Amino acid sequence: MKVYLQTWGCQMNAADSLRMEALLIHHKYTLVDAPDNADIMLLNTCHIREKAYHRVVSRIGELIPFKEKNNAIIGIAGCVAQAESKKLSEESFDIDLIFGPDHIEELPTLLEDALKKKSLVKQVQWDKDPSYHIPIDVIPPLPETGKTPWSPFINIIKGCNNFCTFCVVPYTRGREKSRSVEEILGEVQYYINRGSKEITLLGQNVNSYGQDKSDDFSSFVELLYQISKFPELKRLRFTTSNPHDFTQSLAQAFHDIPILCDHFHLPVQSGSDHVLGRMKRQYTQDTYLQKVSWLKEFRPNMAFSTDIIVGFPGETDADFQETLSLMEKMEYSFVFAFKYSPRKGTPATRFKDTVDEKVQTQRLYDLFTLQNLISCKKAESEVNQIFDVYFLYAKYGYIYGRTSQSRLVKISDQGLNPSELLGKILPVKIIDIHGAEPRQTSLNAISLLGILI
Ligand code: SAH
Ligand code: SF4
Ligand code: F3S
Repeated sequence: MKVYLQTWGCQMNAADSLRMEALLIHHKYTLVDAPDNADIMLLNTCHIREKAYHRVVSRIGELIPFKEKNNAIIGIAGCVAQAESKKLSEESFDIDLIFGPDHIEELPTLLEDALKKKSLVKQVQWDKDPSYHIPIDVIPPLPETGKTPWSPFINIIKGCNNFCTFCVVPYTRGREKSRSVEEILGEVQYYINRGSKEITLLGQNVNSYGQDKSDDFSSFVELLYQISKFPELKRLRFTTSNPHDFTQSLAQAFHDIPILCDHFHLPVQSGSDHVLGRMKRQYTQDTYLQKVSWLKEFRPNMAFSTDIIVGFPGETDADFQETLSLMEKMEYSFVFAFKYSPRKGTPATRFKDTVDEKVQTQRLYDLFTLQNLISCKKAESEVNQIFDVYFLYAKYGYIYGRTSQSRLVKISDQGLNPSELLGKILPVKIIDIHGAEPRQTSLNAISLLGILI
């Protein structure tokens, strides 16, 4: 049977989709890139901003002709499935299966039930088990695919207990649950055995790892020290961290553990203390900058990136200027920024002092104009420098890799055999900047052109 899987959202969803793919292959399903001939069409959805629900419903509309033509089934997974299962089942009669992020491992059984087409199959109960367990047979990719995951993600914690006033994640992913150290180390070993030199630890809030468990359970920092003992591992990354949980011992780990990379994604959301307070972020611009300075003390070359929300209720021009001023101080290498989007059921929807949409649009434009200048300046300063690049994939005549600072670097494949470079860390001299057009809304697509030295 052929399965088409489309994924939206964050790296958590991307990792969930990879696990679904692993399970599907294990159960003899075939994955296809387009819905045209699929027997099963799965949408792994994101609920973070407005219109998420409508995007799913309109995609279902596009899939209906294929459903009819192939007598196929449609399944909805991910955060919209979790948060809007009732509405989805009441409003769309074309859905055969709805399941939440806690039920990925049950996918083969859920599909068997849905394929019988008796009635809608729905599984959105929270998993009551206090432990978070990912069986080894759903770790992607399966050995039979022959693929090597040069830089895999490893889930270490799921859910979120922070309840920032704008955010749906605690309602779509539930409370924090940490995976056991043994299971995580087992997964690290699994990837190392298959050739991976870099891993990224994953969670909505990785640095609260272990806080849902008893005192003798490892903390996030202890976990980092444990993982750093694998001699074959050359690079260690993690995402995402809430600045509120950032401790001095985490900064110290960057001194003690050389394989921790020189890139830190530290979502700030706003530079204004007034807005941060209303967002319930539990830090101020000063405490944020102080934590950054702990890190810079050990790693002067650390690249920072962030997430910012503009036009949060009550954000004045002066508040917004605080955000721009923070960006100037931080010189982020890239920024993900969005207009505030009200989410049903979150406390911020009760704030009356909303910011006009036009003002939001202008602020987002101003923000990217500033960030483009910063991004270009930073990228330009990297020209003529030499970086160690971990080569990850090859396409369209180039071989691509990343620096420790997470900058994408490409080299021409002329005269080279890509398969000999992939999975290797090699020094590259940067000769030019690619993909940097300062007038675009975002420069997250910057890449550097280099040559092997
Ligand atoms: N756990 C991470 C963020 C996860 S959500 C953290 O605490 O930093 C990813 C990003 O989506 C957030 O950082 C935020 O910038 C954005 N986001 C979340 N809810 C939003 C909303 N209601 N409107 C606009 N952007 C939102
Ligand atoms: Fe959402 Fe805040 Fe949790 Fe991040 S820390 S996932 S923004 S509630
Ligand atoms: Fe979206 Fe869910 Fe991730 S809402 S951002 S897919 S946790």
